[in-house]
Amino acid sequence: MIIDGKACAARLNVATRAAVTTLTGLHRIQPALAVVLVGEDPASQVYVRNKVRQAGEAGIRSVEHRLPPDTSSDVLLALVRTLNDDPVVHGILVQLPLPAHIDEAQVIATIAAEKDVDGFHALNAGGLLNGAPHALVPCTPQGCVMLAKQQLGESLAGLHAVVVGRSNIVGKPLAVLLLQENCTVTIAHSRTRDIEAICRQADILFVAVGRAELVNENWIKPGATVIDVGINRTGSEQQGFRLVGDVDFKSATSRAGAITPVPGGVGPMTIACLLRNTVLAACHQNGIDRQLVPETVVR
Ligand code: GUN
Repeated sequence: MIIDGKACAARLNVATRAAVTTLTGLHRIQPALAVVLVGEDPASQVYVRNKVRQAGEAGIRSVEHRLPPDTSSDVLLALVRTLNDDPVVHGILVQLPLPAHIDEAQVIATIAAEKDVDGFHALNAGGLLNGAPHALVPCTPQGCVMLAKQQLGESLAGLHAVVVGRSNIVGKPLAVLLLQENCTVTIAHSRTRDIEAICRQADILFVAVGRAELVNENWIKPGATVIDVGINRTGSEQQGFRLVGDVDFKSATSRAGAITPVPGGVGPMTIACLLRNTVLAACHQNGIDRQLVPETVVR
C-alpha cells in the first residue's frame, strides 16, 4: 500500500482554497505570504518556486524576496522587520539553509511569532510543547501526522511511534505532535543503541535523518506504516540523478503495511501545510475563528 501524499495534499489544498475564498469574499482579507531566499542554492530555489506557485493556486498572494549570497545579516534582519510591520503580509518564510555568515537562530527569532508560518520561532515551538491553541506548527511534522492518519484513521492513540531523527525542524516537533495524538513515542538518533531493534517495535516509523536509503526491511515490523521524510539526491552526472528517501523503498515494501514514496509522499504535504498555516495566521491576525480552516480533511 503506497500512501499518496500528492492526493492528500490536493485534498487539503481544496479546503485551504475554500477558506481563502471566504476570507477574501466575506472578510475582504487576502492572505499573503512573503518568501525570502538568500543565495542560489539549487534545491532551495526549487522549493521556493514550488511554494510561490502553489500559494498562487490556492489564492494566496505571495511576495518573493531574492537576495544575493553575500547579503549581510543586517540587511536580512531589516527586511524581516519590514515584513513584520507590513499589515498586508500574514506569513513570513525565510528559506533555510542560510549562507554560513548569517546566524539562522537570530533570523528566526526576529520573525514575528504570529507570522512565523514555519513554526520555528521559540514562541511557536514552546507553544506546541505546551499545547497552546494558536501556536503555528512546523509544516513537515504536521504533514507527517496527517499522512499517518490518512492510513490509520483519525485516532493514533496507543500506537508506538518511532521517530528517527531529532532535528528542530522535523524530529523534535514531530515527537511532540505524536504525543498529543496519544502515541507512545520513541525518538531514535545516530547515538541510539541497536536502532534497528527499536525501529522494529514501531507501529508507525517516521524517518527524518537525511541519509539516503538508510532504513531497509530489517528495521520494519511486518505491517507497520512507514513515513519517509528524506529527500536525497543520488546518482551521478553520467548516470543521471534521482531522488530517494531515507528508506530503501523497494526493500521496505516487502515488510511495511503502508509506505510513503519519495517523491510524492511527505513533500507535497509540507507545502500544503505551509499554505494552511498562512491562512491560519491571517485568521488569527484579524480575529477570525480558526474553524474557518478545517483541522484535517485528508481522508
Ligand atoms: N528548508 C528545508 N525545509 C524547510 C522548511 O520547511 N522551511 C524553511 N524555511 N526552510 C526549509
